[in-house]
Amino acid sequence: MESKERLIVALDVDTKETCLKLIETLSPVVDIFKVGIAPFVEFGEEILQELRHRRKKVFLDLKFHDIPNTVKNAAIAAVKKEVFMINFHCLGGEKMLQEAVFGVKDFCAKKGIKAPILLGVTVLTSMAQEDLAALGIKSDVKTKVREFAVTAKRSGLDGVVASSQEILDIKEVCGKKFLVVTPGIRPKGAIAGDQKRVETPLSAIKDGADFLVVGRPIIGAQDPVLAAKNILEEMSE
Ligand code: C5P
Repeated sequence: MESKERLIVALDVDTKETCLKLIETLSPVVDIFKVGIAPFVEFGEEILQELRHRRKKVFLDLKFHDIPNTVKNAAIAAVKKEVFMINFHCLGGEKMLQEAVFGVKDFCAKKGIKAPILLGVTVLTSMAQEDLAALGIKSDVKTKVREFAVTAKRSGLDGVVASSQEILDIKEVCGKKFLVVTPGIRPKGAIAGDQKRVETPLSAIKDGADFLVVGRPIIGAQDPVLAAKNILEEMSE
């Protein structure tokens, strides 16, 4: 797979105008865009329309976490938006994940359409050991991520979102084909911000990441196109 098919740019901006401008600027070099909860709540529909119009792939990053029936319905609603990838918090439990997978597969089979990639969110990349402990979770981050990945696979999901520090571990227990999508990507010298488990694009690719999610290092750059090109180049090394 080419680097361009693995890079997902997070459209984490606060106005519709900025978002549309960013899509226009980055479209020649970026094929997959991530729409997260903030832009989705504020101006999601218009952005999704624009991305569909440009034939871009969309990772709808709404991290569903609720009772199984509600999550199943939310997942089906997301599929109707013709997206490439959606995700669920593994913390919602196996029943919730299974119900979501069943709902999506059943809906897609009846409609004769391809299901989007279904991912489980493991431990957020903004969290470290002490944050898990504060939640009363006693295991270390790596163990918890591995447990979530195994649950995700057993529930029928296609892969997980995790930091690139856990890719090797996940691939070892869940197999090479089980997808790992990694946020917390920071080229050398970039500011980590609220991310705690960060790695460079090259390191993530070397470890076997299937997709890299990059927000601020691209969208906050003076020249987002150049920043995206540099990351794509590093990924191809
Ligand atoms: O700006 P930055 O590169 O840190 O953006 C990372 C993006 O990936 C954000 O949109 C964030 O919501 C998302 N994300 C994450 N950690 C996860 C799942 C998604 O950072 N576990």
